[in-house]
Amino acid sequence: MIIGIWAEDEQGLIGEADKMPWSLPAEQKHFKETTMNQVILMGRKTFEGMNKRVLPGRISIILTRDETYQSENEKVLIMHSPKEVLDWYYKQDKDLFITGGAEILALFESELELLYRTVVHEKFQGDTYFPTHFDFGKFKVVSEIFHDKDERNAYTFTIKKYEKVKQP
Ligand SMILES: NC(=O)c1ccc[n+]([C@@H]2O[C@H](COP(=O)([O-])OP(=O)(O)OC[C@H]3O[C@@H](n4cnc5c(N)ncnc54)[C@H](OP(=O)(O)O)[C@@H]3O)[C@@H](O)[C@H]2O)c1
Repeated sequence: MIIGIWAEDEQGLIGEADKMPWSLPAEQKHFKETTMNQVILMGRKTFEGMNKRVLPGRISIILTRDETYQSENEKVLIMHSPKEVLDWYYKQDKDLFITGGAEILALFESELELLYRTVVHEKFQGDTYFPTHFDFGKFKVVSEIFHDKDERNAYTFTIKKYEKVKQP
């Protein structure tokens, strides 16, 4: 299955200067548990915003138009078009998580069958927003889990899970 997973604030903000605008360990734990042992796809800007840190236990695909872009880590695959990603995906049996940023979520919108959308109940400063034209009307909410703040997590957030509505 191809699944979107991301976190946004109350105004749809997802990034600031190629980084996440907040630090929320409980939300990171949800991301880790949901994507563990699967495949995650991210844009080159997001990867570099993470200082090219490779998340353990997962295969990472990095999308770039730069044919010279390389990674020495065998768990990192560099790909150059959505078609190359989809051709690879259909030849294996893991789920593919589209993790962002905004460009990459927009590119794969029509492929997504399931969404994990975290809404952080706060307004931050930043420069990258979840695609405003994304059509949530094609999905239905199947669960909502509210997380309270605590000593390690300064903001409340809700994880909303959506399934694509089957067309008759
Ligand atoms: N809140 C969240 O859950 C979340 C999740 C992920 C990311 N983010 C944030 O989002 C921000 C980055 O988002 P972004 O939209 O600016 O960048 P991005 O989606 O991470 O990466 C964009 C890059 O992807 C490559 N690309 C785009 N379309 C392509 C195509 N058709 N074929 C091949 N490569 C393609 C290009 O790389 P080249 O320029 O190398 O060609 C492009 O510059 C950061 O602040 C990051 O922290 C937030």
